[in-house]
Amino acid sequence: MLNFELYNPTNLIFGEGQIEKLSTLVPQGAKILLAYGGGSIFKNGIYEQVINNLKGFEIVEFSGIEANPRFETLMKAVAIVKEQNIDFILAVGGGSVIDGVKFISAASNFEGNPVDILKKRIMFTELSKVVPFGTVLTLPATGTEMNSGAVITIEATQEKLDFGGSAMFPKFSICDPTVIASLPTRQLQNGVVDAYVHVLEQYLTYPHDGYLQDRIAESILQTLIQVGPQVVENPQNYALASNFMWSCTMALNGLIQKGVPSDWATHMIGHELTALYGIDHARTLAVVGPNLYKVLFETKKGKLLQYGKRIFNLTGTDDEIANEAINKTVEFFHTMGMDTKLSDYTKDFEKTADFIVKRFEERNWKALGEKQNITLEKVKEIVEMSY
Ligand code: NZQ
Ligand code: ZN
Repeated sequence: MLNFELYNPTNLIFGEGQIEKLSTLVPQGAKILLAYGGGSIFKNGIYEQVINNLKGFEIVEFSGIEANPRFETLMKAVAIVKEQNIDFILAVGGGSVIDGVKFISAASNFEGNPVDILKKRIMFTELSKVVPFGTVLTLPATGTEMNSGAVITIEATQEKLDFGGSAMFPKFSICDPTVIASLPTRQLQNGVVDAYVHVLEQYLTYPHDGYLQDRIAESILQTLIQVGPQVVENPQNYALASNFMWSCTMALNGLIQKGVPSDWATHMIGHELTALYGIDHARTLAVVGPNLYKVLFETKKGKLLQYGKRIFNLTGTDDEIANEAINKTVEFFHTMGMDTKLSDYTKDFEKTADFIVKRFEERNWKALGEKQNITLEKVKEIVEMSY
């Protein structure tokens, strides 16, 4: 097992009715920026619950953080934080609102050019230099409610870039599984697949001796396979909703990544597809992931074999099992309503591989993956296979 440090200061408050604790979690006397998205919180009653549990606090609202949150939008909130002397930010929303709030938190006291936070991938480690924030999660998927990363789109250059650092953990996150009842089918499907691929990024590498990490990762995959198709049909069911929500958090709160190698190239390529074509994040992963496993078959064969045996109970030769494990993964994505080809989303795909390779070259991303063997040639092959 590799050496590791495990630091996760987020106070995670899980369960039905937990939004009631809000007033005890926000620092007393704080002037709050309440940040949210396009208005789903008004339709499902979450806004009302939040406001009712923040009586006595001074609140300034910032609405309109879009899916795949944009730097340009978030800078408007940064101006409000500065002008109004905001001392706490509350994100109420899915991954986009929470990631957006992480950026607002980091950029508000940042002394340099804020776009460099993304372009230079600045890591924030000093709590005194960021604005503290908490979250009320409304969409299980990303794990951002309990991790310290964020992904932001720069509209001007059509780039989707990440940043983070230990000061970017939420102070608290309220995770009430009943909030998923109002989610559209598409977003429920996205949540299951995003979390599933988060586990695969940290699990489908090469055999190592992090036995416990593997078993925890496998149990998250099994739980998502069990509840995923059902929760889409019946999001009011508390057993399904709570297991779905907790699986998503556990998939990317840092725990299963400790002491083991990880990949993340599926996400890096997928982010480009969202930046270029606006495809939902999870759907880009369903397009890229299986082709990446095919192109990197020899590197990942040992782990594909373990995955095939333990998750899908496959039998046969090693090569047969490893190959079939990829097919089963695609089958699961189809069950979850994913299209798995780029041409299902855009007719304008032919230059995509060259474009992505050029961008990665400019950023010097020439050796991705757990073995740093995903070269630009391999990226091209993976993207072309995804057409
Ligand atoms: O904006 P509103 O009106 O709130 O509507 C949202 C949005 O249209 C809606 N929604 C959210 N909760 C709802 C709801 N509708 C009804 N009922 C509810 N309870 O859902 C739509 C999508 O929301 P969004 O926040 O964009 O989805 P998600 O949580 O999947 O977040 C995706 C973003 O997270 C990033 C992605 O790249 C993408 O930008 N990621 C962040 C990660 C991280 N910070 O660790 C890791 C991930 O890999 C991912 O990259
Ligand atoms: Zn993801």
